[in-house]
Amino acid sequence: MKNKFYITTPIYYPSAKPHMGHAYSSIVADFFARFKRIDNYDVFFLTGTDEHGQKIERASKDNNKDTLKFCDEISSIFKDLTFKLNLSNNDFIRTTEKRHFDAVEHLWNILEKKNYIYLSKYSGWYSVSDEAFYSEDEIEEIDNIKKSKSSGSKVEWVEEESYFFKLSEWQKPLLNFYEKNRNFILPESRRNEVISFVKGGLKDLSVSRKSFKWGIQVPSNKDHVIYVWLDALTNYLSALKYPDIKNDLFNKFWPASLHLIGKDILRFHAVYWPAFLLAADIEPPHRVYGHGWILSGDEKMSKSKGNILDPLEIINIYGLDSLRYYLLKEVSFGNDGNISEEKLENCINSDLANNFGNLCQRVLSFAEKNCSSVVPSHKFNNEDLKILNSMNNLEKIRSFIDNQDINQYMSFIIDKLFASNKYFNDQEPWKKKDDKIRLSTIVYTALELIRKITILLYPVMPQTTINVLNSLNIKENDIEFLSLKNNEFLKENQKIYKLNILFKKIEK
Ligand code: ME8
Ligand code: MG
Repeated sequence: MKNKFYITTPIYYPSAKPHMGHAYSSIVADFFARFKRIDNYDVFFLTGTDEHGQKIERASKDNNKDTLKFCDEISSIFKDLTFKLNLSNNDFIRTTEKRHFDAVEHLWNILEKKNYIYLSKYSGWYSVSDEAFYSEDEIEEIDNIKKSKSSGSKVEWVEEESYFFKLSEWQKPLLNFYEKNRNFILPESRRNEVISFVKGGLKDLSVSRKSFKWGIQVPSNKDHVIYVWLDALTNYLSALKYPDIKNDLFNKFWPASLHLIGKDILRFHAVYWPAFLLAADIEPPHRVYGHGWILSGDEKMSKSKGNILDPLEIINIYGLDSLRYYLLKEVSFGNDGNISEEKLENCINSDLANNFGNLCQRVLSFAEKNCSSVVPSHKFNNEDLKILNSMNNLEKIRSFIDNQDINQYMSFIIDKLFASNKYFNDQEPWKKKDDKIRLSTIVYTALELIRKITILLYPVMPQTTINVLNSLNIKENDIEFLSLKNNEFLKENQKIYKLNILFKKIEK
């Protein structure tokens, strides 16, 4: 039986123009999904769009469009983005789909049957942009406008009949759950933030709205639509065919291994979501990781702020894999990251053209000229073995992935790239033309180093690395993390194919 890995991105509020923050969370999730696949896990990677609620309803009206038609159009832009980013998602869910309605209605009915839901009246502040309720101490007034302190978005006063979820009863069970599952919330700082929020006391949560229609109706009372976050979070279950909990997908993949989210939606995922699930007797996910924001200047990049760096434009200019590499390497994962075209260009030049590209190009063209374009024979000495073995501690590399320590993973690769380029320089194979065995062993070792590093880079830059591995006769389906243990994977006399320039240096 294979190990299982279920990873999700948040489902996005669709909009006409996805920005770099959206691209970032998707690329990071794809990185983890691809790593787990080459490490022989059975992976289910889910993404999609979150299409209900007042925010979408208003946006459709502002555009004079029928709301569902509007959703169809903008959701398809996000679906298209999954192709443009070369995401390996197994499914793309839309909350306007029937399969999702069934799941949400079922979950609601369970919560109601168990008496965790009651009818009352809500009066308080609501931000349509965040689709969130805020208490008096969570808002402030700036220029006569009341705003959320945490997100800065405008809040409005809401007073209406509403169903409530008895969140207050879940304070203790949640604190116990966090205690027992110490890595449920990562990074540590966010875990502390959540725990202190829950310790501060939980009020019952309004989980329905009456003043607009765009959502899933409360099954027992069609005057209400279900609060969009209860609706949206359930997507993680609907994609596994919940409520049919006997089916293969659900059986195999629930509980989710990793909900990857931005820190702005931590409370929904780390407090409300496990409370809903525990109340419904469904096991909560194994981990919620709250990453930081992509900043533009000092501000969160967001549609409402209008400070968007368009991922599609960047991809057109620099290529997808350069962008993927840059985001994974330069944003310190877990923290906010300030990105710029200038930094991207520097990164392409130093890491991709000079380091990775250079290693592949020079070794392969040396092999073409001096080893008749085939894998040469080898007879390792200690030095060869030492550098090759430096990449076979699989447990160490796996632990970077399982702790979501992307920075360590990337540093490890960069370290090996420098070491491999240095190895090839220091060994000076061009001076060993009289010592055929030594010359071919150096080339063989260098080819094995390229193979190993390229496999590690596959989750980061799938297309480029497939090209490199193809030139070594390795097909995408045969890429295996486990093969890093092997120092003699490449077979003597096998053909090596010519490699085109991988990354062009950017002239300034
Ligand atoms: O929150 N940098 O959708 P969303 C990094 N529909 N990440 C960013 C970002 C930035 N500048 N801007 C947004 C929602 N994100 C809900 C989710 S899940 C059941 C429902 C991230 O489109 C943000 O943190 O506003 C979130 O993780 C994701 O993009 C979707 O944001
Ligand atoms: Mg948002």
